Amino acid sequence: MALLFKSDVDRAEVWQDAIATLLPELEFRNWPEVGDPAEIEYALVWHPPRGELAKLPNLKAIFSLGAGIDHLASDPDLPKDVPVVRMVDQSLTLGMTEFVVMSVLRHHRRIHDYELQQRQKTWEQHVTPLAWQRKVGILGLGVLGSDAADKLNYLGFDVAGWSRSEKNVPGVTSFSGEEGLRPFLERSEILVCLLPLTENTKGILNAETLALLPRGAYLVNAGRGQHMVPGDVLAALNSGQLAAATLDVFPEEPLPQDSPFWDHPKVLVTPHGASITSPITAAEALAESIKCLREGQPLQNVVDFDRGY
Ligand code: NAP
Ligand code: GLV
Repeated sequence: MALLFKSDVDRAEVWQDAIATLLPELEFRNWPEVGDPAEIEYALVWHPPRGELAKLPNLKAIFSLGAGIDHLASDPDLPKDVPVVRMVDQSLTLGMTEFVVMSVLRHHRRIHDYELQQRQKTWEQHVTPLAWQRKVGILGLGVLGSDAADKLNYLGFDVAGWSRSEKNVPGVTSFSGEEGLRPFLERSEILVCLLPLTENTKGILNAETLALLPRGAYLVNAGRGQHMVPGDVLAALNSGQLAAATLDVFPEEPLPQDSPFWDHPKVLVTPHGASITSPITAAEALAESIKCLREGQPLQNVVDFDRGY
């Protein structure tokens, strides 16, 4: 009985130790050292090469190392009869909330402007609105979006979220469905994207949607790079429709050296590090799921490929 591990980040040893403590009977195999494919029952993966998982005949479950599963959905050979479990883990959620709160506060308090001013040795104060006068909008009010919304609400911001179904996060205004998108965008002075990447959400940050934001809005994208149309985001930044942006994800990663985002004075680039799954807590979530499978209990956080997330 073995688990196949494949990650982009070199943390295999930490994961191996964490899993060995909780599931000592499970042999840990770090891709590409697969061994006998028939012995692999579980795969814990990030960006597995296309077709690799289809070679494992006795696979019982595929666990995504991240919350997003677009890296798996894009594999045409992904085994159809094996459940895919996305990562839902307290430290992944807290990490994202830290990133969103940090980004919202940085724009709200115009720290991005002070960073530029410091380079020019310019001493100029900006009076900023109070938190309750600032409207923050979160695209995607799921596990990550609802926690970030809750903490921003606690800080006093006027927070709304947009999701497929209506939500009830205390203190957070819920907009839903296609008809809810326009009024949601029209009020979002700081727009945060925490959507999964699906056929319906691809390219959602485009010229048309960005034009609906109040002029001089801020954009924080920590969803996926393909949520934005890069040329449209740049045009909105250059026209002043967007005052500044924090971009953690890009259509091509690593961000190519010649990308205009690197040097753009209104853009903070972070390397898809908004929140990274920590083995310390996530191994427990994994062990819990494997226990459910073994005991015939229903699995939590299974991906619904018909809706795309
Ligand atoms: P989740 O719990 O599945 O939440 C997804 C949210 O998006 C839900 O509220 C869902 O609505 C909404 N949604 C999906 N499709 C929609 C549509 N067509 N229209 C309106 N709303 C839609 O996912 P999560 O755990 O919060 O993770 C969200 C995403 O964050 C991941 O998929 C990943 O892309 C990204 N992420 C990025 C990083 C990073 O480091 N940058 C780290 C972790 C995750 P319902 O609630 O109605 O279903
Ligand atoms: C990271 O991008 C994740 O989906 O967890």
